Amino acid sequence: MAAPASLPTPSNPGPFGHKQRKNFFFPEGKTEFNHGSYGTFTRSVQENMMKWHNSAELNPDRWVRLDLKPALRKVRSQLAEFMNCDTDELALVQNTTTGINAVMRSLEFVPGDRILQFSTGYVNVDRTVHYICDTHKDVEIVEVPVVMPMSDQEIVYMVEKTVQDQIAKKDGTRIRLAVIDWISSVPAVVHPIKALTDMLKSYGILVLVDAAHVIGQLPMDLTFLNADFVITNCHKWMYSVRGSAVLYVPKRYQKLIHPTAIQGDYKTGFELEFAWNGTMDYSTMLSVEGAFEFRKQYGEEAIMSYMHKLAVQGGKVMAEILGTNVLTPYEHQVGSMVNVRLPIKNIDHPKIETPDYLIKYLLDKYNLYAPSYKHGGYYWTRVSAQIYLELSDFVHLANVWKEVIEDLNAEEV
Ligand SMILES: Cc1ncc(COP(=O)(O)O)c(C=O)c1O
Repeated sequence: MAAPASLPTPSNPGPFGHKQRKNFFFPEGKTEFNHGSYGTFTRSVQENMMKWHNSAELNPDRWVRLDLKPALRKVRSQLAEFMNCDTDELALVQNTTTGINAVMRSLEFVPGDRILQFSTGYVNVDRTVHYICDTHKDVEIVEVPVVMPMSDQEIVYMVEKTVQDQIAKKDGTRIRLAVIDWISSVPAVVHPIKALTDMLKSYGILVLVDAAHVIGQLPMDLTFLNADFVITNCHKWMYSVRGSAVLYVPKRYQKLIHPTAIQGDYKTGFELEFAWNGTMDYSTMLSVEGAFEFRKQYGEEAIMSYMHKLAVQGGKVMAEILGTNVLTPYEHQVGSMVNVRLPIKNIDHPKIETPDYLIKYLLDKYNLYAPSYKHGGYYWTRVSAQIYLELSDFVHLANVWKEVIEDLNAEEV
């Protein structure tokens, strides 16, 4: 992996910052602040995807019957090396939602089982947990109410206390599974995933890690983490094409876990069951190869540290302009997404409660977007740092928010 002599920083972006815009597809005048939601890929990654896409069209039978599975295996082996696990422990899936469903809907829950999740868990995951509860007798959710800021120790303590309180009930129930975000969505917070996993496992609880935001944003060592299941999206922070995620299932559970779409390879083993999802275009998954090639030019450390430093500094700059604060004083909880408080007087303002109002306002008037949400009695925006952004972009975004908020605050409601 290439290691630059000195790592790029927001004040000295080196190969990063606005000069990266040419590698991506943004037209003039479009600045992307929401990489965290859907990611985006580079021109070189698109070329790589098209290489796979065209291979399929040149000879569909050869592609599907002979070439596809070895190509998928090669990408899995690259990912395994990157995340320090075995190739045979990984399956490529379309996205985190699919991976979470594969695990949750394969596990056999029995009456009395409880599923622990954070109140800040992602909506698709929360709905999947609800589905499991709705379709099983006496399976219920144990929710950990998360209000940031909290230190890592406080987070672990709160989760452990929830587990102990459940045990103390002595009512025949048990927390069977915990679904934990490595990095939560809104607010965006890097959780102490190793400490949480170790603690939960010490109580015999299965741990499913929603790492949707992790690959490409933070280093991952799955053997060290030793969670029971991990799912991460390559199409968010790694720059592969949307529709590429990777599910980690250690060998001890592979007989239990099946894809959500059962197909002809049912019960022939983990690799084959997950290698075919029925007829579709697999070039998005294979574009992970192109993402690795792009990233190798700069090195993982350089990419991750630039994004993190930009998120931390950018968040401070925005908070200063807005006269507010960032959500957490602990910089390691920031990753590459920072939550900045928006000084809205009435956080129940009817306009911000109107679906799509702010989305349209920001996109139509300013051609930009950053998600905003309530948390802990305040209103926040989440801003994604990226290698194509610089500090001046954060200044611009803060000034846009200032105008939007002045408009909202001017109206007495
Ligand atoms: C924490 C978290 N989990 C799961 C998902 C779902 O990812 P996908 O839409 O790729 O399935 C997201 C998407 O933003 C997320 O932020």
